[in-house]
Amino acid sequence: MKKDHIILGIETSCDETAVAIIKNGKEIMSNVVSSQIESHKRFGGVVPEIASRHHVEQITVVLEEAFRQAELSWDEINAIAVTEGPGLVGALLIGINAAKALSFAKSKPLIGVHHIAGHIYANRLKTEFEFPLLALIVSGGHTELVLMKDHGTYTLIGETLDDAAGEAYDKIARSLGLPYPGGPQIDRLAHTGEVTIDFPRAWLGDESFDFSFSGLKSAVINYIHNKKQKEEKISKEDIAASFQASVVDVLTEKTFKAAQKYDVKQVIVAGGVAANKGLRKSLVDKFSTTTIPVLIPPIELCTDNAAMIAAAASIQYERQQFAPWDLNGKPSLQLT
Ligand code: KG4
Ligand code: ZN
Repeated sequence: MKKDHIILGIETSCDETAVAIIKNGKEIMSNVVSSQIESHKRFGGVVPEIASRHHVEQITVVLEEAFRQAELSWDEINAIAVTEGPGLVGALLIGINAAKALSFAKSKPLIGVHHIAGHIYANRLKTEFEFPLLALIVSGGHTELVLMKDHGTYTLIGETLDDAAGEAYDKIARSLGLPYPGGPQIDRLAHTGEVTIDFPRAWLGDESFDFSFSGLKSAVINYIHNKKQKEEKISKEDIAASFQASVVDVLTEKTFKAAQKYDVKQVIVAGGVAANKGLRKSLVDKFSTTTIPVLIPPIELCTDNAAMIAAAASIQYERQQFAPWDLNGKPSLQLT
């Protein structure tokens, strides 16, 4: 029998300051997230300088709250995990320096975690993994299909050639005058609109598991401009529904094909766009004719949090994969 282990996780790669305490990679003892969305809203996106400042202000408050909720002391913590990349370098460094200082002061091993590995492991807080599994990662910075044959091993089988799905959502939302972050706004509008506009779907050939959303993004923006120039009325709801249908169709079809090609036992969905109601429904419907379960975390575990970072770190802890003192923020860290 393996000994229990408790990991403190820290996540500051973008605009959430988050600390969580997780037992054995699966059991949430506390999970605290301080979101900065309100501060970035008026700029229409995340301002890196402001993000870093907020992380500095929030990190100790969030850390104390995580201990308070878990009702634990430092003696019970076995390791400290932190997101080392990818992300905004100034934001990453706040978490990393907090983790290093705590690791040194409390004599606990330090673990560097890839942010996307974290999004994938958010699913393990709910359901145990069965390999091989296929992960669809859809966030503000990533759109990837990753095959996992074992814990901690990742093979990239497809990725976006241009914009990430979340980025496309945020840009379309901005063109429609909706506040940041645009994903949830478009998702909400899409459910009251009709798919009346035939926006393009980039299939990139039968064999490709890559994605491209820049053509779709331009098509939607051009549609809005043309309508405005002609002083014709637009239906934000129908644009949202039609745009979302294009994104969801491509994500669902490619995930389905890849799951069959690699004969996977599970499909897991990760990242902020996994919160999308249209995508969740489409994937569940598509796979309902197969024996492959589709795992999607609850919404609060889809967007950035530290529970997922500590969950991913659990595998590294068991393998004694600890980080050196010169651990640094890596804005473009690769998963594979
Ligand atoms: O994973 P995440 O919290 O941060 C990154 O690592 O990027 O993802 C944020 C992205 C944003 O682009 C946001 O608009 C999108 O996820 N998002 C959504 C929804 N909720 C968040 N996109 C579509 N529908 C949603 N319901
Ligand atoms: Zn993320």
